[in-house]
Amino acid sequence: MDGKPQSPATADVEALERDLLARLDAAADEAAIEALRVEALGKQGSVSALMKSLGGMSPAERQVMGPRLNGLKDKLGEAIVAKKASLAEAALEARLAAERVDVTLPPQRVRIGAIHPISAVMEEVSAIFGQMGFALEEGPDIETDFHNFTALNFPPRHPARDMHDTFFLQADEKGERKVLRTHTSPVQVRTMLKQKPPIRMVCMGRTFRCDSDATHTPMFHQIEGLVIDETTTMADLKGVLMAFIKAYFEVDSVEVRFRPHHFPFTEPSAEMDVRCDRSVPGQLKIGEGDDWLEILGCGMVHPNVLRHCGLDPERYQGYAFGMGIDRLAMLKYGAPDLRDFFGSDVRWLQHYGFSPYLLPGLAAGLSGGIG
Ligand code: DAH
Repeated sequence: MDGKPQSPATADVEALERDLLARLDAAADEAAIEALRVEALGKQGSVSALMKSLGGMSPAERQVMGPRLNGLKDKLGEAIVAKKASLAEAALEARLAAERVDVTLPPQRVRIGAIHPISAVMEEVSAIFGQMGFALEEGPDIETDFHNFTALNFPPRHPARDMHDTFFLQADEKGERKVLRTHTSPVQVRTMLKQKPPIRMVCMGRTFRCDSDATHTPMFHQIEGLVIDETTTMADLKGVLMAFIKAYFEVDSVEVRFRPHHFPFTEPSAEMDVRCDRSVPGQLKIGEGDDWLEILGCGMVHPNVLRHCGLDPERYQGYAFGMGIDRLAMLKYGAPDLRDFFGSDVRWLQHYGFSPYLLPGLAAGLSGGIG
């Protein structure tokens, strides 16, 4: 320095400084920096050893080497702190880049579940009848013979009981054999037994018969309706059913036909069919075609049923109807085979299922939940 030849010690210190700073610059992580710090500035470190050697130097040498070594120590210390900070910053940048979320992308449509079409149709049906002033009633799946048959005017040991392909349970200790209800009509009986007219109710639920083909499954669903007062007629029944069908299928007119029929619990009785097309295999279209799908039975409540339920048939009258909910779902959503409804095939459920976010209502549109 200042033109004087450098002492070898000074040259060594400069070489050490260059080496340490170059290695610090190349250090890839916090552990490498720390190892270098210990190697240079630790108790046994190379810089620390030079500091110790100051004691053995001449005053003139110390005057040169003292500030030089202190300078090296401070410079290295500062460089270590700066290197650590830049590594931490780089790590943060890398993490932010990896976790970047593009908030301008539209939300991903991930469907993890869907409402079963039967549940959706039950919501639709109860919305329609609710608006027509019908109350919702309930009854058990396991019924007594009295509620399922006797009170509904099925004579004892009459073949009509077998026509329902009934599932009988084991006899209990009193010898009574309960049944899996074969229809929702026993809820009529339960309602009339607990409540005096006027009655205006619907009930929905599971029903069971030993039967299986494209339009029958051993477990299926029905909706039952009952209106009892002193004046209700068959014309009221037809009006309500037509209003229901139009609201349900969301059309101005649907072609239906009433056929005379026999049920023990109604007189007169009828069945109602909806026009449909089943000519293309695997497809079912409503409102066109040459086929008819029976969807309900109905009629004026038989005087014997009123009597069994403690009502005077001279004073009270009314109508009842029973409808297959699964058939309604098949017709509206075009599913051709009823057995698929209960097959638990996830692909079927995703295709025919409904979004859980959109519940049907008359104001927002009944089938607003499709998708
Ligand atoms: N319970 C009948 C069935 O399952 C359907 C039915 C017909 C219900 C006529 C009624 C009715 O309430 O009046 O086949």
